[in-house]
Amino acid sequence: AKTRHFKWEVEYMHWAPDCKEGVVMGINGQFPGPTIQARAGDTIHLELTNHLHTEGVVIHWHGIRQIDTPWADGTASISQCPINPGESFVYRFKVDKAGTYFYHGHYGMQRSAGLYGSLIVDVEEGKKEPFHYDGEFNLLLSDLWHKSAHEQEVDLSSKPMRWIGEPQSLLINGRGQNNCSLAAGFNNSTLSKCKLRGNEQCAPQILQVLPNKTYRLRVASTTALASLSLAIGNHKMIIVEADGNYIQPFEVDNMDIYSGDSYSVLFTTNQDPSINYWISVSVRGREPKTPQGLTILNYKTTSASKLPTLPPPISPPWNDYNHSKSFTFKILSQMGSPKPPVRPHRRIVLLNTQNFIDGQTKWSINNVSLVLPATPLLGSMKYNLKGAFDPKKPPESFSANYDVMNPSSNPNSTTGSLVYTLRFNTTIDVILQNANALAANVSEIHPWHLHGHDFWVLGYGEGRFKEGDEKKFNLKNPPLRNTAVIFPFGWTALRFVADNPGVWAFHCHIEPHLHMGMGVVFAEGVRRIGKIPDEALTCGLTAKMFMSTKN
Ligand code: C2O
Ligand code: CU
Repeated sequence: AKTRHFKWEVEYMHWAPDCKEGVVMGINGQFPGPTIQARAGDTIHLELTNHLHTEGVVIHWHGIRQIDTPWADGTASISQCPINPGESFVYRFKVDKAGTYFYHGHYGMQRSAGLYGSLIVDVEEGKKEPFHYDGEFNLLLSDLWHKSAHEQEVDLSSKPMRWIGEPQSLLINGRGQNNCSLAAGFNNSTLSKCKLRGNEQCAPQILQVLPNKTYRLRVASTTALASLSLAIGNHKMIIVEADGNYIQPFEVDNMDIYSGDSYSVLFTTNQDPSINYWISVSVRGREPKTPQGLTILNYKTTSASKLPTLPPPISPPWNDYNHSKSFTFKILSQMGSPKPPVRPHRRIVLLNTQNFIDGQTKWSINNVSLVLPATPLLGSMKYNLKGAFDPKKPPESFSANYDVMNPSSNPNSTTGSLVYTLRFNTTIDVILQNANALAANVSEIHPWHLHGHDFWVLGYGEGRFKEGDEKKFNLKNPPLRNTAVIFPFGWTALRFVADNPGVWAFHCHIEPHLHMGMGVVFAEGVRRIGKIPDEALTCGLTAKMFMSTKN
């Protein structure tokens, strides 16, 4: 294992990800940011300098558990103070487990502003993956708005709220086409044909393959909002990895991928090698207003500049939830994977509701809408700083007569940053309970992501979770993940062991939902947290604490 050194500078820059020029957050002049490539067991040493003129920044390493380094998790107000303009912060952490990961901004709506990139961890030197492939490609999926992230933040918190709407474009490795289509003339597309020379910032990155080989696609979604369906025209895909964990391989024509998910997919180039094929991403779970994102699979036996002659894949209807469920339910852990403890010590039921607080539209969990404190919780809890955080216990569940199938009769709620304190090394069950949103007959998909851990996904159900449903949990081969979806009007059951000292975010990975309060915080083993680097504590009451100890 080695230490890999990086020096990154974050700055705003002009870019045309979908052929229309705007402003994105870039890293070292690149959008998306540079891909980190490492091996399991390596240490990443990354010095991040903030060159944004007037705002702080942090970067979260999504899927990396930060064992013994909770201060490197990159969550503003939770693990660290935002890095101020002109200042630097060193993220030093171990990538202990091979897999497909990514990183992204975790402050305000900086993910929507384009602050993201891929993080690939290969198996240790000399070790082998449990499947064979001849080559690999990386597909980082995202969505793009032409409005700035700042304007989106203002829109979301205005009274009444102005919803950000659907993205203008879907991006594959930061590239999409907004005012033209590569597939003009197919599938009723009314857009004109793109006239790209290939060197534009929005030109698709073409995947070049040889016939009769097997390739690994590493796919991750860092969308701010969109749930996606991915397909490769005429080619079957075999899913082999989910969120850095091996799964029982299964074959599909198209796959769902929610914000926060990552997968490895194998495909074999066994089709007619004299033509090219589409790789497509389309919106699922919300009525799509965004054109399909496209790139090209090029058999090197033919010219890369020839567009495919077949129409692009048609994705399943956006609201075909049965299709989504059947995909999700097929994800099971590979034989020999770690099994969950048979019994939890504690069960926390988290109901998500959409609320009105003081004229603002918010999301709440058990009637508390998350507002993060000025002093990062990791420092304030470790040093037990009075007044820096709310020591009250958040609710373990919600009222027995709350009707999850209908709009609430009282859409009011409270705000706060209550922390669930978990006893070190105990087994925790979380039941994520979906409900009807503010409007009747509306319940949305929410992909929930846990920092600092993988969890087992024990099961899914319809309606309200009830006593006895735990008898149906899958304890035999539940998949280990860091992101799990709750379907409309349903519940999802997770189990994890609170064995990683730190303070960890657990939230819906839809960025505007998190911004509107859809998250909670877990703290565990707080007394065991090691020495937090001073640079993580330069704000709020932790900064004051330093001033008083230094005098
Ligand atoms: Cu990828 Cu807290 O997020
Ligand atoms: Cu959500």
